[in-house]
Amino acid sequence: SEVFVVSGPAEAGEYVAEILARAITTNPETVLGLATGSTPLPIYAALAEKVRTEGIDVSRVSGFALDEYVGIDPAHDQSYHHVIDAEVTQTLGLNPERVHVPSGNPETLESAGTAYEDAIRAAGGVDWQILGIGANGHIGFNEPGSPLDSLTRRVPLTEQTREDNARFFETIDEVPRHAITQGVGTILRAGHLFLLAFGAHKADAVARAINGPISPEIPASAIQSHPHVTVLLDAAAAAGLA
Ligand code: F6R
Repeated sequence: SEVFVVSGPAEAGEYVAEILARAITTNPETVLGLATGSTPLPIYAALAEKVRTEGIDVSRVSGFALDEYVGIDPAHDQSYHHVIDAEVTQTLGLNPERVHVPSGNPETLESAGTAYEDAIRAAGGVDWQILGIGANGHIGFNEPGSPLDSLTRRVPLTEQTREDNARFFETIDEVPRHAITQGVGTILRAGHLFLLAFGAHKADAVARAINGPISPEIPASAIQSHPHVTVLLDAAAAAGLA
């Protein structure tokens, strides 16, 4: 994998957006793997700017989100259905029918994982997967202990992740306890992975993901087994690298 230390989120966003803009121009049916959270927002903003100023045709681009909370109303402003719609579909002007988020509906959870895997396969697979990383080394909502060959499924959220995400909710009790997430194995099937991390609170997870043993204890360490990975870090997140 290639690891770049950049000045900050804006430079990382610009770097990835430039690659994605060229990819979409070359292949108008590009399939994007979409992370939520704070980390990827500069990519979406920079790519939206390029789509606007360069008139890039994104009408046939598809997107697959990594995850969704279980039991959250899709209209809730913190549901990933809502976040992806606001931050990606609307911002980039994608066709909403081509943007997919796993269903967190508790009543259909058992089949939702397989349905999502089938939808990714039917689209031809994810070409470019954008990833953030949790302070505990999670990718998607694959918490420590997640099998490295796991597929889309229901998972419990750790207390740390619930606390990390409580800032988006009124109280921590409102943060869902389960999620549906693409598995580590699902993520590894994408053609190219971009992993971004900013801030000192990510430094330990980044060091273990990049230099530690490949282990389910740090799900992000699985990226070491992927042939095409670009890691973009600010200096604080890179502080633990030798
Ligand atoms: C969200 C996701 C998570 C986040 C991670 C970092 O779709 O996949 O793995 O990328 O929790 O979150 P932020 O970017 O908010 O620090």
